Amino acid sequence: MKGCNTAVILAAGAGTRMKSEKPKVLHEVMGRPMVSHVIAQVRAGGAENIIVVVGHGSEKVTAALKEENVQFAVQTEQLGTGHAVMQAAEFLPEDGGVFVLCGDTPLVTADMLKEFAAYHEKSAGVLTVLTAGMDDPTGYGRIIRAEDGSLLKIVEQKDATEEERAVKEINSGMFCFDAAFLKESLPKLSNDNAQQEYYITDLVGMAVESGRGAAAWQTADPDAIMGVNNRVQLAKAGAVMRRRIVEKHMMAGVTMIDPDSVYIEDSVEIGPDTEIWPGVVLRGNTVIGSGCVIRKDTEITDSTIGDRVEIQRSVIKETKVGSMTTVGPFAYLRPGNVIGEDCRIGDFVEFKNSTFGDRSKASHLAYIGDGDVGTDCNIGCGVVFVNYDGKHKFRSTVGDRAFIGSNSNLVAPVSVQDDGYVAAGSTVTKEVHAGALYLERAEEKQLEGWVERKGLKRGE
Ligand code: UD1
Ligand code: CA
Repeated sequence: MKGCNTAVILAAGAGTRMKSEKPKVLHEVMGRPMVSHVIAQVRAGGAENIIVVVGHGSEKVTAALKEENVQFAVQTEQLGTGHAVMQAAEFLPEDGGVFVLCGDTPLVTADMLKEFAAYHEKSAGVLTVLTAGMDDPTGYGRIIRAEDGSLLKIVEQKDATEEERAVKEINSGMFCFDAAFLKESLPKLSNDNAQQEYYITDLVGMAVESGRGAAAWQTADPDAIMGVNNRVQLAKAGAVMRRRIVEKHMMAGVTMIDPDSVYIEDSVEIGPDTEIWPGVVLRGNTVIGSGCVIRKDTEITDSTIGDRVEIQRSVIKETKVGSMTTVGPFAYLRPGNVIGEDCRIGDFVEFKNSTFGDRSKASHLAYIGDGDVGTDCNIGCGVVFVNYDGKHKFRSTVGDRAFIGSNSNLVAPVSVQDDGYVAAGSTVTKEVHAGALYLERAEEKQLEGWVERKGLKRGE
């Protein structure tokens, strides 16, 4: 039985070509560090024990992966891919299969790894290398086969002859090993080569020469093995992953007006018959219902949106929006809101840490912070929930069917009872009684003929 239950992920390299303070494998593709994608896919591909070999920036890498349930082996000096695997030797099982992967190949998929491991399981050899055909194989190790097609060895570009360099089948850097062979052979690697490194790839020649045999399995999807060494490749990997995600949603019934312009992280769920316009960004644990229209340039993070909601050019974070509600254009829902069903949140309305009952409306230019608003309310234009005295935050409560006139201030802590009315322009500092009109305005005065007297008449 050779099922690959263990995986070693190499992530100790410097990643010099990224020109970054940040270790290479922590650079993000679609909102997640590259190495986290590899971990997630190999776990879904069958590996239960995952060892990440860290070196450069090891503290940052281990800190970033502390929730991932993996073990760490430290490679203090980067003496090659074979040397990196040696550092994980103590974690390797006595038998069974071991994946060796790299932390900088974020496009690897669980399905491909399963197929690969299944091939290894059937093959007679003690290792299988995952290969791909490349139009331009520059930089990769070349797969050298015998005349009968059987695998002979892998030669690094720097050690290759002219003839070997012409080979277009390359080493992806991904392997399945029989654990026993791997454990026993690692100490036998030497660094007698152009780069004076211990190459994991030399194990292929060793397996073949010792008669135990090695196999190669070629993937039909070279994208899935793409390694990222610089920011151009980082963007390319992002584009491939973005495309995979939007296609998954389109196949599940989501309309995308311009799929190349949207950014949707893998964690996002979207119901069927929802329509996504260009420039939309959907991130984190966002769930969008069915039949919604998410219009241009909207950004939604960690939020739950009901069914048949329409959102225009708005920013929404950590908020729940009920079904049939409309939002925007230019609304800003900051963290902590629960918005009811069939509500209207119009242009330039900001919410923070507030609840808003079913069918309530704030159609324009309002700030609702730390407020609890009942059902069927109307929040007029320019209303401010004054929630902050410079040091402390306070809440305001508005009952059902209340009407808050335009340009009013509710100075928290304060409450408006059910059916209370606040006259436009009032500053509310006391409780508004149920069914009462609260009016707070200076008495109006008019100084007749004042403009003429002052000589201020204009246009003369
Ligand atoms: C390696 C392979 C090459 C293959 C290519 C695929 C070897 C000798 N060569 O070459 O055949 O085509 O990957 O991308 O294996 N790493 C460590 N510690 C080290 C050295 C590397 O952890 O001491 C890690 C790196 O962080 C990286 C991975 O191993 O994730 C591959 O290392 P890299 O230096 O990029 O290998 P290549 O020269 O590209
Ligand atoms: Ca590489």
